[in-house]
Amino acid sequence: MGPNYHTLFSRTEIDARIASLGREIRADYHDRSLTVLVVLKGSFVFAADLIRAIDLPMNVEFIGLRSYGDRINTSGVVEITLDVKHPLAGEDVLIVEDIVDTGLTLEYLMKNLSTRNPASMKLAALLHKPARTKVHVPIDYKGFQVPDKFVIGYGLDFAGKYRNLPEIGYLDPPPLDH
Ligand code: IMP
Repeated sequence: MGPNYHTLFSRTEIDARIASLGREIRADYHDRSLTVLVVLKGSFVFAADLIRAIDLPMNVEFIGLRSYGDRINTSGVVEITLDVKHPLAGEDVLIVEDIVDTGLTLEYLMKNLSTRNPASMKLAALLHKPARTKVHVPIDYKGFQVPDKFVIGYGLDFAGKYRNLPEIGYLDPPPLDH
């Protein structure tokens, strides 16, 4: 990484936080069976670790969303690029998201999913950037709060890059127009 890269959370810190979230989720759901809904693409790394930290029966599904806007800012216009095949009616759905920034993407998704009548719907988000909130989205299981920086790594990209970085950090000076 270049000189403008700064670490926020190491792999060890991430692992410990996820282990704790997994225990919390297991305790809350007791022995119920979960439908884990992974929001692509950014959440796949977090989801891969989180599901292995949850000792419950589960079904894992994926949904693809595209938020319109420039490379960094969400406009609030969201398109489903890959939908869930499995019906969600009566399921205990746990949405797994990488980061809640403005909240617009999650607000859209949660409204859309609630029309499918799940028995319950909760949100696990690895990161929360409260400085940029436009709509409040309740995060039931939160990994870490992050400052108002464009964060990368552990699944999060900038212009398609850095998803494979094993830890979470940010670029300062930031990429264009943030
Ligand atoms: P929101 O609709 O503004 O909450 O943005 C949600 C989506 O924007 C996330 O799921 C990410 O894919 C992306 N995003 C927002 N902030 C960042 C960031 O700091 N780094 C990488 N992706 C981000």
